[in-house]
Amino acid sequence: MTELTHPLATIPQDELVARAEADPLRPRFHFVSPAGWLNDPNGVSQWNGTYHLFYQYNPEGAFHHRIQWGHATSTDLVTWTDKPIALEPSEGPDAEGCWSGVLVNDGGTPTLVYSGRSEGKELPCVAVGSPDLLSWTKVPENPVIAAPPAGVDTTAYRDHCVWREGTKWRQLVGSGIRQRGGTAFLYESSDLRSWDYIGPLFIGDASQGDPADTDWTGTMWECVDLFRAGQGSLGSVTSDGSPDVLVFSAWDDGDTRHPLYWTGRYAGDAFEPAALHRLDYGGRFFYAPQSFQDEAGRRVMFGWMQEGRSDAAMVEAGWSGVMSLPRLVTMADDGTLRFAPVPEINKLRREHTRLPGQVLTGALVPLDIGVSGNQLDLELDLQLAPGALLRLGVLGSTGGSNSDNPTEETVIELRRATDGTGHGALHVDRTRSSLDPTVDVEDKSGPVPMPEGRVHLRVILDRSAVEIFANGIPLTARAYPTLGGERVSLAAEGTVQMLSLDAWTMAEIHEGTRTLFP
Ligand code: FRU
Repeated sequence: MTELTHPLATIPQDELVARAEADPLRPRFHFVSPAGWLNDPNGVSQWNGTYHLFYQYNPEGAFHHRIQWGHATSTDLVTWTDKPIALEPSEGPDAEGCWSGVLVNDGGTPTLVYSGRSEGKELPCVAVGSPDLLSWTKVPENPVIAAPPAGVDTTAYRDHCVWREGTKWRQLVGSGIRQRGGTAFLYESSDLRSWDYIGPLFIGDASQGDPADTDWTGTMWECVDLFRAGQGSLGSVTSDGSPDVLVFSAWDDGDTRHPLYWTGRYAGDAFEPAALHRLDYGGRFFYAPQSFQDEAGRRVMFGWMQEGRSDAAMVEAGWSGVMSLPRLVTMADDGTLRFAPVPEINKLRREHTRLPGQVLTGALVPLDIGVSGNQLDLELDLQLAPGALLRLGVLGSTGGSNSDNPTEETVIELRRATDGTGHGALHVDRTRSSLDPTVDVEDKSGPVPMPEGRVHLRVILDRSAVEIFANGIPLTARAYPTLGGERVSLAAEGTVQMLSLDAWTMAEIHEGTRTLFP
């Protein structure tokens, strides 16, 4: 253990784990750090069959400081085993933190490319791993790129996407050009140590749209992730028309805004964008996503589910940050991405309740559906008439007399447009999700295609972690009920046919006592 020097390190380190585990709002089947702070997923990969999840970790307490790389492994993407810390700041270019990066296979040698932070700025660094990926040695060439491109006024410069193309390595570093917009700088190397700058892959336009917009591209792009959707690899001639996808997290002057993606074509040294899309309607609650292709050829993505409580509340709780469930990423016919938790997650399903199909009509009369819990997987098949609204209340407590009007409730709404088209919207109303006035209750919403009014709705609740998928479009949120609410209710306005509803309680994934320094 290093000496605790940070003013926010108010909870003794040997109490942190117990403190974190005692919190009823701490998720039980999402990956969380043993205690302390967690942010971005890093180095997500499958190596000789084993899945590796590294993450931005501060074991000193639940605040962002002197970031290290935590590490956990899994054989099924469901249960995780803590491994020793992979990277820790040391004298030199990462003295102030080992920030985000990726894992690549350098001819059999596991190799990390990450952002070393020193003197308040980040530069690319490399570390090579032992065959079991448990011990890491920083290379003497660090930083492997000495500075951002000369003559460019950058807003920030960090995070990496690295891939093999032909006989060379290529790398993107996330950045932004002042007075212009976010960007990713492209580099090339034959050994991962010495890099030639090629140029910006593509430059966003921060003057487009309103900075308040949910698809504003920001002044800097964090955690850029470029991949070919579907078959084929980056840079290859596509046989099936699969587009390339450039994922980034829009950032602005310290403000983590939201994940977005461009579809388009990466060819030569540039990315030709076709369209911009929101990646998750929860915005910062699914931030800094990173994806990889597993050995079965599936694209799997993790994101950081930020907290919606105050900095002081996080420190008090002894933990902060949740890793999303791993999501399977696919391309829909309309050229946009669809997401679903990997099917392996279904292993955690325990008690099953199935409700018979029924028609819900009326003006929002809540139906007590005989399902309750705060660790649940809910799956509904619905058909909404034009103009109809379905309202699914979760994490609710009546707190007393009027059971139709719960004191606390997180409300998930699906509405189909009145015009009879397949347009609709998903909305999460958290205004009554918590009696705690300090938590984030911002509205979250976005459009969802509902062909013929059909919606497959999946809602995963894990204490304060909420992941919603409506026809494969995700909305990730956090909720902090103070009354321990487990109530689930359904209501409709207009006619909603519930074709089926399945609910499962979900098992926990962390067994036994964890330690801060595994
Ligand atoms: C994104 C991010 C990255 C950075 C890391 C630091 O959340 O800000 O840009 O590398 O977190 O922890």
